Amino acid sequence: MTARRRKRMPRLATALLLATTSLASQATTAAERTLQLPEDGVALKASPLPGYLKAQAYCVMCHSAEYMLYQPPSAARPYWEAMVRRMKQVFAAPFDESEIPDLVDYLVKTYGNEQSR
Ligand code: HEC
Repeated sequence: MTARRRKRMPRLATALLLATTSLASQATTAAERTLQLPEDGVALKASPLPGYLKAQAYCVMCHSAEYMLYQPPSAARPYWEAMVRRMKQVFAAPFDESEIPDLVDYLVKTYGNEQSR
């Protein structure tokens, strides 16, 4: 009797786990500003980009920042733009059209496929 054993380990699950565990440590930088933290304690990832403060103002008022973490890190600019526009059109998120570019820029560079890490 011969049994074949395969030793290939699926690496994707491990990579995803590592990606998500590094997110928890980044919530401390903006302590001197007056910011509202989401109730569950998941903050938007800090960033020097102008869209960060706009996202603080407009993207965690209805739901927590945790929603961003569930989006695929491979998501590109058009995906985020569509998301932001959907929040405005469908749910009447109260930001101006002119703020969309900054919001999208922050989102794609922080949660999407333009992350520098
Ligand atoms: C007026 C309330 C409101 C605002 C403001 C708002 N959202 Fe949402 N958002 C929702 C609701 C409601 C859902 C759940 C929609 C669903 O389940 O389809 C949601 C879901 C999401 C999701 C989960 C994915 C999905 O398709 O459901 C993401 C990501 C998201 N929002 C991002 C954002 C971003 C980025 C901003 C800021 C530009 C924002 N939201 C602002 C109401 C809002």
